[in-house]
Amino acid sequence: MEIAGTGMTREAIFQRLAEFRRNDIKWQEGRTYGYIFDPGKATLEVGKAAYNEFLSENGLDFTVFPSLLRLERELAAFGARHLRGDDQVVGNFTSGGTESIILAVKAARDCYREKRPDITAPEMILPATAHAAFHKASRYLGVKAVTVSVDPKTFRADVEKVRAAINGRTIMIVGSAPSYAHGVVDPIADLAALAKENDLWMHTDACMGGFLLPYFRRLGEPVPDFDFSVPGVDSISVDLHKYAYTPKGASLILYRNKALRRHQIFACSGWIGYTIVNNALQSSKSGGPMAAAWAVINYVGDEGYLEIARKKLAAVKKIAEGIGRIDGLRLLTRPDMCLISFTSDEVNVFHIIDEMNQRGWYIQPSLSFDNSPAHIHLSVSASNVGWEDELLKNLAECVHIARTLPVGALTGLIKESLEGVDLSAISDKEIMEMMAAAGIKEGVLPSRMADINGVLDALPARVREKILTAFVNDMFSQP
Ligand SMILES: Cc1ncc(COP(=O)(O)O)c(C=O)c1O
Repeated sequence: MEIAGTGMTREAIFQRLAEFRRNDIKWQEGRTYGYIFDPGKATLEVGKAAYNEFLSENGLDFTVFPSLLRLERELAAFGARHLRGDDQVVGNFTSGGTESIILAVKAARDCYREKRPDITAPEMILPATAHAAFHKASRYLGVKAVTVSVDPKTFRADVEKVRAAINGRTIMIVGSAPSYAHGVVDPIADLAALAKENDLWMHTDACMGGFLLPYFRRLGEPVPDFDFSVPGVDSISVDLHKYAYTPKGASLILYRNKALRRHQIFACSGWIGYTIVNNALQSSKSGGPMAAAWAVINYVGDEGYLEIARKKLAAVKKIAEGIGRIDGLRLLTRPDMCLISFTSDEVNVFHIIDEMNQRGWYIQPSLSFDNSPAHIHLSVSASNVGWEDELLKNLAECVHIARTLPVGALTGLIKESLEGVDLSAISDKEIMEMMAAAGIKEGVLPSRMADINGVLDALPARVREKILTAFVNDMFSQP
């Protein structure tokens, strides 16, 4: 591919961009239960305008752009107050939950390098529901992830299992508020007490819930304590681009005090060039996401968020109760927030998802892992409010239809062909041949994904990862 020789006209460019977008999900309709946090037209416009205003400003150097320093300090101070921290709490703005989490793990690692130089192979304990970003941090930073099963009924972290996993190399314990998969808040107070008892770093991952849970608490929901009000919590990740409805590229990583946060900062004078001191992962970065986050939060305001939370809470209760009444469906647990997980003991859940998809809904497949079965996930968001009856009606219909569909012929075939094969030695070429057999050609996925999800679900996590890596490595190639 070559760059357009004389440059394209503005009109031609936007026409091409619109064409690229043709097959994207139509999230504007409000029937997408994941990926999208749409605050509605007016707020979106404010966010976009602020984003554009600060698009070119560079967060690389706050001495040149003091406006960005101001915005970041105000956002972090807001986060500290929202999560009941005192005036010692500090924080930084990051590009998203993953960056916040990687930074927290880096800070913990470097803190313990100083404090416990005897630990040369550090470990962190993750309940199985801790977000994959901790595994990414583990692989990037060389802190071993020790995963422990969650309670099979409540899907909350099992404190005794975490206790049993602590050893002389442990530096950190992680809890979620709430976990993505089941939307339940871990017993953070107990985990933090355990961390304190053993002199370990405690991180609360409140990427999903940090913004919204305080509003649910104000509405009378029994939200367990998870924030800086809990003694022993050292750091909290909280995303703004989720339930604060700010444009993407917006999260906060907060620390109980500067002594802890110091380990996050990267300064480098060991090269020939400008002085580098980064408070987060990125170096050059647009001021857009930060300005947009500040603008949206102040535009919606406290009462606005409370009102959104009220409507969302009512919608979640209606959906959860409705799912419980659909013959063949079963809620995995009662969610603490607005993330709903449900499964079926009678019908292939991946068929239900395909059928819903054909009717214009996006609901998310979740593969089985440890003691959690394959299930369907809904992240309920402001723009989904009002669709509850239609969603439940369609779900009931789709369960009915899914009963009549064959249970993964391909899954059986592939499982059979993999029988006795050393999966750790399977080559990328063999994987691509398997993909082609499953109907994936030149990066284009079939419209029905049940078979593919069924195959992945039947494989061990390690093999799933290998297949997905080969697939993505192939997909992102020249068009
Ligand atoms: C609990 C939790 N933590 C972290 C993340 C990662 O956030 P991001 O996708 O912004 O990197 C997510 C994303 O859904 C999440 O649910």
